[in-house]
Amino acid sequence: MSTLITGIRELTTNTEGGPLHDAAVVLDGQHFAWVGPAQDAPAADDRIDLAGRAALPGWVDSHTHLVFAGDRTAEFEARMAGRPYRAGGIATTVAATRAASDDELSVNLARHIAEARRQGTTCLETKTGYGLSVEDELRSAKLAAAAADEVTFLGAHLVPADMDAEKYVDLVCGDMLDAVAPYVRWADVFCETGAFDRDQSDRVLRAAKAHGLGLRVHGNQLGEGAGVQLAVEHGAASVDHCTYLTDADIEALASSDTVATVLPACDLSTRQRLAPARALLDAGATVALATNANPGSSYTTSMAFCVATAVLQMGLSVAEAVHAATAGGARALRRDDVGVIRVGARADLQVLDAPSVTHLAYRPGVPLTYAVWRLGRQIKTPMFD
Ligand code: NIG
Repeated sequence: MSTLITGIRELTTNTEGGPLHDAAVVLDGQHFAWVGPAQDAPAADDRIDLAGRAALPGWVDSHTHLVFAGDRTAEFEARMAGRPYRAGGIATTVAATRAASDDELSVNLARHIAEARRQGTTCLETKTGYGLSVEDELRSAKLAAAAADEVTFLGAHLVPADMDAEKYVDLVCGDMLDAVAPYVRWADVFCETGAFDRDQSDRVLRAAKAHGLGLRVHGNQLGEGAGVQLAVEHGAASVDHCTYLTDADIEALASSDTVATVLPACDLSTRQRLAPARALLDAGATVALATNANPGSSYTTSMAFCVATAVLQMGLSVAEAVHAATAGGARALRRDDVGVIRVGARADLQVLDAPSVTHLAYRPGVPLTYAVWRLGRQIKTPMFD
């Protein structure tokens, strides 16, 4: 069954030549079968007219923590009253997650993924990291693998209160990695004061690499530190947060393949400065934008909010922010089948109830997602139907 979607006033493709105007696409099965000017479009089994709306690749949210239970409203309120954010808050969610049943965790995970998809996210990474025991990390990995596009093992999120740090790193690098490796593509470590230091993070990354996993790093979130340099040295696909960077960090990212993933909703929700995305782009680094959806530091699944913030407060153009939230996320996940509209790519499409992507920043906070296709299937129908 093929579908011709026409009446696209502005089509962001993330391919050479910039956006197309008065464009059309054909979806066939799970892929784009044709992309081009509407006047040249071939016939298809079905036809949908978008009546002058803008379309773009579905968002690629390359950083979320959605296998969790519980709520941290009180911590958020305290933070808004002036208490600083600290990594230790993770322990609250670990306790709630361990106490939850598999069903509770998977329903919560599915609910948040559905929420993200309704807002145009068609490819989503999520992490373990609120289990922190072999058993709880394993079930988190299994639940995530059943629901998300990409799964990351983050056993090295925090040292459990009842464990010695070195012994915990041994466990992460040994039994925990052995157990979760079949269910995950990526491994990550929170390299930060209060979490894992440089040597401990290095051990985790080496062990993950030996298990054949791709690498990611949480780094430079709460202060300058070793995260970025370590990520680059290890050839990690992405280093996420990048809020506190030195000139040397920016230079290292610009001359590497490691993507700098910035998480503006987290920076705002933790009352930190915003990551220097403008400087990263100016230096030549690849930047991704992601939500960091989690109950502690960034409880939003809205990529549109991140895009608007990147434009209004971080100095990116709309085109740069949209690219970072689609092709940038795809690069951070080392995927070339998403975040792009071209023949053969995954048929993931977001339609805005607006004539151009500029409206994402011009009309911040307005829910503009009009329709969404994921893997060729329409998962959100027009909002006014
Ligand atoms: O990316 N930085 C570490 N992990 C999460 C925080 C999770 C939490 O506070 O529960 C983050 O911000």
